[in-house]
Amino acid sequence: MVIDLEQILNLAKQEIKKISNLKELENWKIKYLGRKSGLSLFFKSLKNLPLSERKEKGLKANQIRDSLIELLKEKEVQLKQTSFSFDDFFDITQPGKKIPLTHLHPLTLVFNEIVDIFEKLGFQIVEGPDIETEYYNFDALRIPKDHPARDMWDTFWIQTDNSKERLLLKTHTSPFQIRFMETHQPPFRIIAPGRCFRYEATDVSHEIQFHQVEGLMVSEKVSLANFKFIIEEFLKTFFKKKIEIRFRNSYFPFVSPSLEIDIKIKDKKTKSIYKDKWLEIMGAGMVHPELFEKVNYEKNRWQGFAFGLGVERLAMIKYNINDIRLFFSSDLRFLKQF
Ligand code: FA5
Repeated sequence: MVIDLEQILNLAKQEIKKISNLKELENWKIKYLGRKSGLSLFFKSLKNLPLSERKEKGLKANQIRDSLIELLKEKEVQLKQTSFSFDDFFDITQPGKKIPLTHLHPLTLVFNEIVDIFEKLGFQIVEGPDIETEYYNFDALRIPKDHPARDMWDTFWIQTDNSKERLLLKTHTSPFQIRFMETHQPPFRIIAPGRCFRYEATDVSHEIQFHQVEGLMVSEKVSLANFKFIIEEFLKTFFKKKIEIRFRNSYFPFVSPSLEIDIKIKDKKTKSIYKDKWLEIMGAGMVHPELFEKVNYEKNRWQGFAFGLGVERLAMIKYNINDIRLFFSSDLRFLKQF
């Protein structure tokens, strides 16, 4: 049987013009390019030809095959652009697909809530750096080198040139006090949320990286009574539960007197794992007069209170979380609960 490849190509061209859907195009493909097509039979018959003829005819057959494939591709594109298929049909009456929503991290939720409450109490929000100088983190806060109080803040030091001032990852948010007072005159009330870093062993209630919110209120007549009122208002609104508050004597070189504040959940109905236990949540006190001197405030004119509260601690009590390390574990089973 003599197979005329040119004739096959002409026929294929004529037929493909009349095709109007993908199903017909599939049949065309089987007819002209399939295993039983004239072209395939031609390729199979090549082996019976003498070598000299085989090369020339093989080349021709390849050109015809390329032309057929080209025709097929063009038609496919054309049909897909113009034809309507039920696969593409969009039924606007169908219920929508549910897109999984992302969650805010529990610490972000708690941060937002803390900021909201203090804003309502008239506090302004300020920010500061994570990398701090030794001066702001320690010296300006009356924590000199070789003073035992420095041991309270185990520090991540940053390697710097010996001739420059030493840098560190801030161990608490209290440096914000100095930074703010250097550039602002009283009266004011601010809170400064921030990340803190301490080079210490981790356990269920200690992380090397955690958050604090610093508070500072300075005016001519601020007292511990004002602080007590503000902090009670804050805790009542934040926990929405019956809370008992205890002020304990403590020692922070930058406040005098120094206090530590503990809370206890009293609510009878609560199932909290922290119920009926005293929990330390913050350090506080009246701003030491030497700090006012350092920032050149008028002598004996101003008074202020300051506090630094642990955000993770508050979040743990609020959401009944028993291990601080969960916050940074990236465990979706934990995060999806909020
Ligand atoms: C301070 O850091 C003081 N700057 C607080 C302060 C501010 C005192 C203003 C007076 C005036 P302290 O080291 O106690 O204090 O930390 C305060 C709170 O941070 C703690 O009550 C606790 O809630 C939290 N905290 C401290 N260390 C860690 C840690 N490793 N992991 C998680 N939370 C911590």
